[in-house]
Amino acid sequence: MAPKKNLMTKKVSLLLGLQWGDEGKGKIVDVLTQKHDIIARFQGGPNAGHTLVFNGQKHVLHTIPSGIFHKNAINIVGNGVVIDPVIFKKELDNLSKYAIDFSDKLRISRKAHLILPTHRLLDAASETAKGKAKIGSTLKGIGPTYMDKTGRNGLRIGDLEHKDWKDKYQKLTQKHLKMLSHFEIQIDFDLKELEDEFYEGIKAIKQIPFVDGVSYIHNEISKGKSILAEGAQGSLLDIDFGTYPFVTSSTTTAAGACTGLGIAPNQIGEVYGIMKAYTTRVGSGPFPTELFDEDGATMAKTGNEFGATTGRPRRCGWLDLVALKYAVQLNGVTQLAMMKSDVLSGFNTIKACTSYTYQGKETTDFPYSIEKEDVTPNYTEFNGWQKDITSIKSGDEIPANLKDYIRFIENYVGVPIRILSVGPDREQTILL
Ligand code: GDP
Ligand code: IMO
Ligand code: MG
Repeated sequence: MAPKKNLMTKKVSLLLGLQWGDEGKGKIVDVLTQKHDIIARFQGGPNAGHTLVFNGQKHVLHTIPSGIFHKNAINIVGNGVVIDPVIFKKELDNLSKYAIDFSDKLRISRKAHLILPTHRLLDAASETAKGKAKIGSTLKGIGPTYMDKTGRNGLRIGDLEHKDWKDKYQKLTQKHLKMLSHFEIQIDFDLKELEDEFYEGIKAIKQIPFVDGVSYIHNEISKGKSILAEGAQGSLLDIDFGTYPFVTSSTTTAAGACTGLGIAPNQIGEVYGIMKAYTTRVGSGPFPTELFDEDGATMAKTGNEFGATTGRPRRCGWLDLVALKYAVQLNGVTQLAMMKSDVLSGFNTIKACTSYTYQGKETTDFPYSIEKEDVTPNYTEFNGWQKDITSIKSGDEIPANLKDYIRFIENYVGVPIRILSVGPDREQTILL
């Protein structure tokens, strides 16, 4: 007999970045963890750097989900994630001071793929070979690992439970060494040293329970547990929909949560889209609203815009609403979190790109190419606000000009801003 009522309630919320990454996803996952039972990272790898600030301390997570500091939540690294055991061990070591019981609070999907030391070397060789056309990769081995995944050669977490895993490792490493020898410029490395730290990392990873992610998540959902799926990077770095080839190698958009965790689209309810009040990008690639003037320098300085993973300075520019609307559509965003609004305090005039001139014609659609030669941004100007907003606690205290800016963005993209972030700390968050 068919069940009387559809028991599949929308138990999964999605949280993802809508720009070129570093929007402040980690902070909002941390804030929302109190409302969820499970935090599940669905794609990317240690190219991500998610920053959390609370009790006067800053924490940066790369692979471990951003709910790890809360007592109530289980954190799961999904099958869509690629894991570097060396970095994973460092993350565990960094967290060991905080008395977190990982065997109780952290899980890894058996189907997640492993980043080998030679994946990192291939990343470096590939970037060097590209010369000026380099992507600006974080060089964490992300591209080569996903290539081995789709090429059906990858090594998975679940393999570590089988005796022959080292044979598989050796076979893949040998293949990589051959590939490396074909590059014109050779990279120096000490494989023994790299392998020693890799094996140490594997030992650390083996202390974390491995799970069959799909049954794990679905069993929890059937018990009424709620899931928050944590994305890495941002929509404009998506392998299909981003500014290809200057993208990462995973699906950073909503579909990535389905393939990266094994959840169905009709289980997804809320979709939190995280955006900065302006735009940043780290690495190469087109960026129509990029600023090279004093305004850009002010954003970089006030916003402390340096990459959380590589420390590289982030390029800064005005908010691009054409790109933001594209990302909202791609992901089915139901509400926005606007981050770093405090960084724009003090500007006399604030601008937002509201259309492009693409190959001579004005458009609000995100075109095939947003390279400089194809696209000129057209701006709408707003009056700035001078008030320091870093300690405001409620919507009533928001300066009128910031309210106007918020309303304009909401009307343009058709989705409400429900979270306003006014500083890096967990407490500097206003629910609207
Ligand atoms: P993620 O990768 O999306 O998690 O973002 P990152 O952690 O890489 O970068 C966001 C940076 O902005 C971090 O240094 C955060 O501590 C900081 N941050 C987050 N929200 C705010 C905010 O509202 N105001 C300011 N000034 N900084 C913020
Ligand atoms: P979070 O999760 C910002 C960028 C790199 C490079 C391109 C490809 O912290 O927002 P890769 O290492 O994937 O081969 O790099 O993508 N990139 C990010 N930029 N935030 C990130 O993650 C990023 N992860 C990768 O700078 O341009
Ligand atoms: Mg980041």
